[in-house]
Amino acid sequence: MQKKEQIYEGKAKKVFATDDPELVIVDYKDDATAFNGLKKGTIVGKGIINNRMSNYLMQMLEKAGIPTHFVRELSERETVVRKVQIVPLEVIIRNLSAGSFSKRYGVDEGIRFDEPVIEFSYKNDELGDPLLNTSHALALKLATAAEIQTIRDLALRIDECLKAFWAECGVTLVDFKLEFGRTADGTIILADQISPDTFRLWYSKTGEKLEKDRFRRDLGGVEEAYAEVMKRVNAHDRA
Ligand code: TMP
Ligand code: ASP
Repeated sequence: MQKKEQIYEGKAKKVFATDDPELVIVDYKDDATAFNGLKKGTIVGKGIINNRMSNYLMQMLEKAGIPTHFVRELSERETVVRKVQIVPLEVIIRNLSAGSFSKRYGVDEGIRFDEPVIEFSYKNDELGDPLLNTSHALALKLATAAEIQTIRDLALRIDECLKAFWAECGVTLVDFKLEFGRTADGTIILADQISPDTFRLWYSKTGEKLEKDRFRRDLGGVEEAYAEVMKRVNAHDRA
C-alpha cells in the first residue's frame, strides 16, 4: 500500500490518498480544538490513543454486525480505511444529560434518560455545526429519508454495544458523536473516529471525567485521562 498525496486535513487528523482508489490512510494528530476551533492545544500522545482506540472499537462493532470504514492499522498513528463521502451530519447519542443538552434545556448534568436521545447537527464549521432535525436535513438534502433511518438504526445499535463494553470497563458512557459515510455503491457505513475526543466517559464510581471535557473545561490531567481510558480498554482485552 502506497501512501500518496494529502487530500484533507481536519482538526484532529490528516487523510492521504493511496494507490487504491477505494482506500485512504488516516493519520491522527495530537492537536486538540474545542468550541469550533476557538480553543486550541496539544494533547501529547492523543493521536496514538485515538487511532488505537477507534480501531479497537470499530473492530468490536464489526463483530456485532455494524459496517465500518476500518480496514487495517498501519502504524501507531496511521490506519487504512475505506474511502467514503461523509454525510454532513454529526450524530449525537446521549444516555445521560451533559454538555450542550444541559445548557440548552437548563437541566443538571448526569440525569439518566429512559431512552437514548439522538440528535443531529449540520456538519458545517462556518455555521458552528447547528442543531437540526430530520425534516431540516431532508430540506437541505444532506441525506435521504432512507439514509437517515439507517443512520438512526445503526447509531442505536452502536450505543447498545458501546454502553455494555464501557460498563465492563468501569465507566459510564454519557454521550458520543458519530459520523457516517457513503461508499461508492451508496452503502452507509460508520466513519470518522470513536475516541476520547468524541465521547463523554465518566468513571462509574466517582463521576470523574475521563476524556476531552478535561481539555474543554480546563480540568487538568488531560493526558492522564486519555491514558487511563486506553489502559482500561487494554485490560478488558486481556481479561
Ligand atoms: P455536546 O454536549 O457539546 O453537544 O457534545 C455531545 C458529544 O459529542 C460529546 O460526547 C462530545 C461530542 N462532540 C464531538 O465529538 N465533536 C464536537 O464538535 C462536539 C460539539 C461534540
Ligand atoms: N471538535 C470541536 C471543535 O474544535 C469541538 C469539541 O470537540 O468540543 O470544533
